[in-house]
Amino acid sequence: MANITVPTASVTSNPLADELRTARTVRPCVVVIFGATGDLTKRKLVPSLMGLAKDGLLPPGFAVVGFARRAWTDESFRAELADGVRQFGRPDTSSQFDAMADAFSFHQSDFGETAGYVALKQKLEQIDRQRGTAGNRIFYLATPPSAYSSILQNLATTGLSVEKDGKFARVIVEKPFGRDIATAVALNDQVRAAFHERQVFRIDHYLGKETVQNILALRFANGIFEPLWNEKFVDHVQITVAESIGVGSRGGYFEESGIIRDMIQNHLMQVLTLVAMEPPTSLTADAVRDEKVKVLQAIRSFRPEEVDEATVRAQYTRGSFGGEEVKGYRDEEGVAAESTTETYAAVRLHVNNWRWARTPFVLRSGKRLPRRVTEVAIHFKQPPHLLFEGGKPLLPNVLLLRIQPDEGVALRFGAKVPGPDVRIRDVRMDFRYGTAFGGETADAYERLLLDSMLGDGTLFARADEVEEAWRIVDSIVAGWKQSAQRPDEYVAGTWGPERAEQLLLTGRAWRKP
Ligand SMILES: NC(=O)c1ccc[n+]([C@@H]2O[C@H](COP(=O)([O-])OP(=O)(O)OC[C@H]3O[C@@H](n4cnc5c(N)ncnc54)[C@H](OP(=O)(O)O)[C@@H]3O)[C@@H](O)[C@H]2O)c1
Repeated sequence: MANITVPTASVTSNPLADELRTARTVRPCVVVIFGATGDLTKRKLVPSLMGLAKDGLLPPGFAVVGFARRAWTDESFRAELADGVRQFGRPDTSSQFDAMADAFSFHQSDFGETAGYVALKQKLEQIDRQRGTAGNRIFYLATPPSAYSSILQNLATTGLSVEKDGKFARVIVEKPFGRDIATAVALNDQVRAAFHERQVFRIDHYLGKETVQNILALRFANGIFEPLWNEKFVDHVQITVAESIGVGSRGGYFEESGIIRDMIQNHLMQVLTLVAMEPPTSLTADAVRDEKVKVLQAIRSFRPEEVDEATVRAQYTRGSFGGEEVKGYRDEEGVAAESTTETYAAVRLHVNNWRWARTPFVLRSGKRLPRRVTEVAIHFKQPPHLLFEGGKPLLPNVLLLRIQPDEGVALRFGAKVPGPDVRIRDVRMDFRYGTAFGGETADAYERLLLDSMLGDGTLFARADEVEEAWRIVDSIVAGWKQSAQRPDEYVAGTWGPERAEQLLLTGRAWRKP
């Protein structure tokens, strides 16, 4: 195995932070978190803000207001957040929180009470005076989607969503962005009634991952890959997001979504667009997102009768996992005994444009698969004439983009086995992020929170992307509804149902990472 190294002299402990600090400066602002007593705030949002603080990336005028229904005080709010940072934050961020705890305050109100927003407005003005936050606001909707409507309406009614005198007002929306195209359009309409699209930041945390962003760098910062990045050379592309966990206590929630809504509509579709898009004319948010949405537009909706042939859905059954017996999906808490909700789905998509017309993209995602892994595998075509091993097809060259864990890029190719015979064996050239760059990688939420404060929407889903992805997914779900077939089954701890192999068509096989 050949390891690729980079000169360490040019590398500091957190190169991204250094680069961002010099290249982009955040203006003072207040982040208002709706749903601040919830799990997301404690586990992700505040620990990520403290990661930014540690790297010196927060502005001097900065504050957070937590908005929720519970009768918490500033003190109890801070104590809860301190606990969250200790448990879930990067090392050494606890002291960071202690040093700036007074930047965090709590605002008790129901989402539906307009008076609560009027009081919030006054509170924000007071914070502007006390902490120099300059009238800039970010509203983070860390709430169940059912709450979005009343929060958005109240922000509009009280004028909090309005940008004037050069001050910004932005909203961050958490997934799910609807559960089908109709609800996504309705949500986008609600958002647009209060905010302009440029003020809206829809979070898909996959886009905040370094290795997902590296797809763009790999493709467009190098001259060697792009000439091969098309249907003439690429046989097919496999995109995998595998989880080893089952549904756990989220059975009730999962019954309503299934893996296609929970993972494929957002994370896998986003990764697909980055792999398949044309080079953008620049890295501005709209230039990148224009190209991403074109990929989705080039994917036809399925007719119901096509869906069984182009997709596989399945449920895990009882099995053993790491030496332990685990339940089947239909025995999980909150799951109906006759449930048809899929815990695994694989989908074969065609991007109908000049670059990709004959190259299938196969996407799969599932729970209770053997490992937690996310990767993109670009499988290249065989050489036109096979000279070795009696003309037997060799294993194809694969360019593997490992998104998690063990982030990196690997290239598989054939090499001669030393000795008098001409025998070919696979070898791998491997680049590992951890080895090459060292240091800790920031959580995806850190990058996305920072970008929202900078007003950079490149790594956020635009309304049209979300709607196009739902159009495709809805056509699959409609086919499944109409199908006489029940979902297939796979034993927990295996790589999914047998039929998924057929989806790749003859001569191809799914990787088993
Ligand atoms: N948790 C995660 O890791 C995670 C990851 C990705 C995405 N998300 C998304 O992030 C969002 C929030 O998730 P979560 O897990 O943090 O939810 P959660 O733990 O259920 O928290 C919900 C929050 O909303 C508040 N709330 C609900 N109804 C309210 C009302 N009528 N008035 C005022 N406050 C109200 C709750 O406050 P009180 O309890 O004080 O009433 C609580 O602070 C969801 O959209 C979820 O899908 C979460």
